[in-house]
Amino acid sequence: MSSINPDLERVLLTEEDISLRVAELAQQISDDYRERGNLYLVGILKGAFIFLADLVRQLSIPHDVDFMAVSSYGNSATSSGAVRILMDLREPVENRDILLVEDIVDTGQTLSYLHKTLQGRRPASLKSCVLVQKEREAPHEPIDYLGFAIPDVWVVGYGLDYAERYRTLPYLAELKRSVYMKNGS
Ligand code: IMP
Ligand code: MG
Repeated sequence: MSSINPDLERVLLTEEDISLRVAELAQQISDDYRERGNLYLVGILKGAFIFLADLVRQLSIPHDVDFMAVSSYGNSATSSGAVRILMDLREPVENRDILLVEDIVDTGQTLSYLHKTLQGRRPASLKSCVLVQKEREAPHEPIDYLGFAIPDVWVVGYGLDYAERYRTLPYLAELKRSVYMKNGS
């Protein structure tokens, strides 16, 4: 990887690592939901848009796609604790099989908030599919489909950003600490 951006420490997951794992997840999800009705996939913007797009194109079961946007961190690399819905689903989800699709779980606050909020709308079922989870000591919200466990560092690429940058890199990379410690976060 000779042309790696100088802001990046190292590549954690290559394009190939990701695409192989996404195919496995899609296969597993298709198998698990085959006997049910339409699967309602809820992508969490902005971070999950690339993961979701790759995942749904490999599903072999009927499905619908919708999005929610939430905000938790602003432009900083540490959690402020508060989660806010910036854009909600377009349809009621009562009696539907929902699969939340998230880019990353760090503290687990966002996922747990979304879980609580959507559970209150009485879906038939509610599960989550997450590309990467940071390894931490604190217990996480259980994840039903997990791509990879990664170290507790700031990562970018494949949909994930730092202050809106690096989102469209095709791989997942660790951002240099010097880049995200600059802004007082
Ligand atoms: P949590 O609520 O602490 O689990 O944080 C989840 C959200 O924070 C994710 O959906 C991301 O939008 C963002 N986030 C957490 N860690 C990272 C990271 O390393 N890179 C980019 N975004 C992150
Ligand atoms: Mg996110």
